[in-house]
Amino acid sequence: MSPDAITRREFLKSGSAAGLAAGLALHVSAGMAAPPGDRKLRVGWVGTGGRGRHLLGHVLKMDNLEVVAICDITPDNLDKGLEMVEEKTQKRPEASGDTPYAYRKLIARDDIDCVVIATPCYWHTTMYIDCLKEGMSVYGEKPLAITAWELKEIQAVRKQHPDVVLQVGTQWGSNEQFADIIKQVREGAIGDLWDGRFRRYGDWDGFKGWFTERDKSGDWMLEQAVHEFNLMYWLTQTNPAKCTAVGRSGIIPDRDTTSFYTALLEYPDPLKNFVIRYTHTFIEVPDFDEGGWSYKVVGSKGGANLTPPSPYIQLRDKSGDNGGKIEAKGNAGDTYEHLANFFDCVRAGTPDKVNSGLASGVGATTIGLMIRQSVEKKAPVTYEETLADTRKPPLPSA
Ligand SMILES: NC(=O)c1ccc[n+]([C@@H]2O[C@H](COP(=O)([O-])OP(=O)(O)OC[C@H]3O[C@@H](n4cnc5c(N)ncnc54)[C@H](O)[C@@H]3O)[C@@H](O)[C@H]2O)c1
Repeated sequence: MSPDAITRREFLKSGSAAGLAAGLALHVSAGMAAPPGDRKLRVGWVGTGGRGRHLLGHVLKMDNLEVVAICDITPDNLDKGLEMVEEKTQKRPEASGDTPYAYRKLIARDDIDCVVIATPCYWHTTMYIDCLKEGMSVYGEKPLAITAWELKEIQAVRKQHPDVVLQVGTQWGSNEQFADIIKQVREGAIGDLWDGRFRRYGDWDGFKGWFTERDKSGDWMLEQAVHEFNLMYWLTQTNPAKCTAVGRSGIIPDRDTTSFYTALLEYPDPLKNFVIRYTHTFIEVPDFDEGGWSYKVVGSKGGANLTPPSPYIQLRDKSGDNGGKIEAKGNAGDTYEHLANFFDCVRAGTPDKVNSGLASGVGATTIGLMIRQSVEKKAPVTYEETLADTRKPPLPSA
């Protein structure tokens, strides 16, 4: 057990950092609560299903950290996670998961620096909030929330615990090419924003279990499309004022999620001429439409193409270098880089340096909530109407 870890965890848990920040505008100083720095990080894990094991595979390639405890309520998945770690390190992490809330013991431990969480969407906000209250740094899967009520809860708790490192698993936040193009767009490279054209076409075969239940996944606009919504929020740094969406469900057997939908997002001043069209389907014929996804924004001076793998800007004026085409600089960072960014922030004690923090998680989730509400109501909705929704996720009682 590291004394550093104990001191810092205890300090963050108490909310003292928040109190000090409010009263004296202080940050956590190294003398009072040292972040882990270069020593080996001790990592806890919650959820070793499909995504959890994908993340674990990345983490097991990283130096100077060890996964010391895993919690999963599905014994088979728990074993698979334990075996991955044991095979790589010859050490078997401690195991737990006999009840749905067993993870709370893990995140309360003072000998663990941070946790990675990859559980079904209806658990996310509760687990994030529990981590904040325990002062436990957390990398949690997206979406941040699946209800407006949860968004309000987590923002309120975050205010009390601003010094806990919190990274939402929208890994494109660590893609330097997106960052480069979006920065240029925000600095005016393509002029006023007019027409956003985003789409993701997929098929349903890979998604089973809780993914097919609306109240547990939040539906596809929360479970999946938040990756696109994260880009939209990054571009606009504001919420849509109004959303008009049309969708259909009941087409794909054995599920109550939406099979396909199209949304129009309208923005407030100074983006009043910006309208984003987003189409998301699960009825695609495999390999029918090239690539399946496309993210483009057209403005008064040019267009920005954010579609992986080669984002670029094309200016209307083609007289300059390269025919007015500006290619993105930097790496095409993804999940590995996103996890690495999180661990760097844990080591340095820099919650403000995460690439996908609470604000982008809230922004991306809000777009999904507006679209879902509009599809349900079969009518346009405003931002305010969406936030007034009081639904809660279907968690078991503690
Ligand atoms: N960032 C991405 O690109 C990306 C990709 C895929 C999935 N995801 C997200 O990752 C999350 C997990 O998806 P998945 O495909 O791994 O699902 P999954 O069903 O395969 O795995 C979820 C795991 O969580 C465990 N679990 C459930 N409740 C738990 C609890 N209370 N305590 C401990 N463990 C619990 C389950 O037993 C299971 O092993 C989802 O939110 C999904 O949206 C993100």
